[in-house]
Amino acid sequence: MQDFFLSKMDSSFRAELFDFHGVSMTRYFTDNWDNVQNFQARPDDILIATYPKAGTTWVSCILDLLHFGQTSSERQTSISIYDRVPFLEMSVPSVPKGTELADKLVTSPRLIKTHFPVQFVPKSFWEQNCRIVYLARNAKDSVVSYFHFDRMNMAEPEPGEWSSFLQRFMQGKMVFGSWYDHVNGWWKKKQTYSKLHYMFYEDLIEDTGRELDKLCSFVGLSSSDEHKKSIIGMVQFDNMKNNKMANHSTISIMDFKISHFMRKGKVGDWKTHFTVNQNEHFDEDYKRKMTDPTLEFRTEMDISAI
Ligand code: A3P
Repeated sequence: MQDFFLSKMDSSFRAELFDFHGVSMTRYFTDNWDNVQNFQARPDDILIATYPKAGTTWVSCILDLLHFGQTSSERQTSISIYDRVPFLEMSVPSVPKGTELADKLVTSPRLIKTHFPVQFVPKSFWEQNCRIVYLARNAKDSVVSYFHFDRMNMAEPEPGEWSSFLQRFMQGKMVFGSWYDHVNGWWKKKQTYSKLHYMFYEDLIEDTGRELDKLCSFVGLSSSDEHKKSIIGMVQFDNMKNNKMANHSTISIMDFKISHFMRKGKVGDWKTHFTVNQNEHFDEDYKRKMTDPTLEFRTEMDISAI
């Protein structure tokens, strides 16, 4: 198992944002561009695609447990989630690149993670007609989660103050670009690419079991009720937060003194960050950008109904 991000925690590690084919990116996700674009997907690969902070790790753990939880429990207790599910475009000094880790995977299927907007996905995934699971999360909770992530992750650009971070999010000046373009781009793709399962973080919170059933039928697995029940238990927020193989605490470039990777895991935490003015401004801007009435997000949920 690799010791991820061996470099010492140091803010000089933080990367600058730049425009890359019309999308804000940092070099840690573009330096290996040619190898990423030439990556050879296999027909049974499953690509897990998300905008950052949508619950990528959560759905990665679920899919990993669904496929391999019964055959090898050692896998879950001894291999970190970022080794079980390589981050395809990641290219950080001193650690294996995402493409190398994916090439080395011996599992079938291979589970591979990407934060790419749809137009950046290597063509072999489409050619091989791979299954793709896209997980989306509402914009307000995504930006709050992203803010705390950028505070604690020394490979991310300096987040600055909350208010300026929120402005930049609305302008799409985040690593992996605009949330609005990302969720819409993948939503449109779903109309022409049938092997894309588009799911929502809020639905996972509401009923993990129901979403697990949908995933099972999408990937063509019929798991026993007992197995599904044990997965639901293992991927509960507190259990994942306490699980070293899932909570990213082994990544030294993440400063857990600033914030935890598994921070709150809630729908509606944005209310503790947005001022009334920020919320009004955000909503107006949101309406202008999110014009497709078929793509709807929930920014709050009645917890008592869950
Ligand atoms: P918060 O920062 O709002 O807590 P990603 O894996 O895409 O980086 O997403 C991380 C976000 O997903 C964090 O959100 C994290 O707490 C949340 N998350 C991870 N596992 C979760 C779980 N089992 N249940 C609910 N939320 C979870």
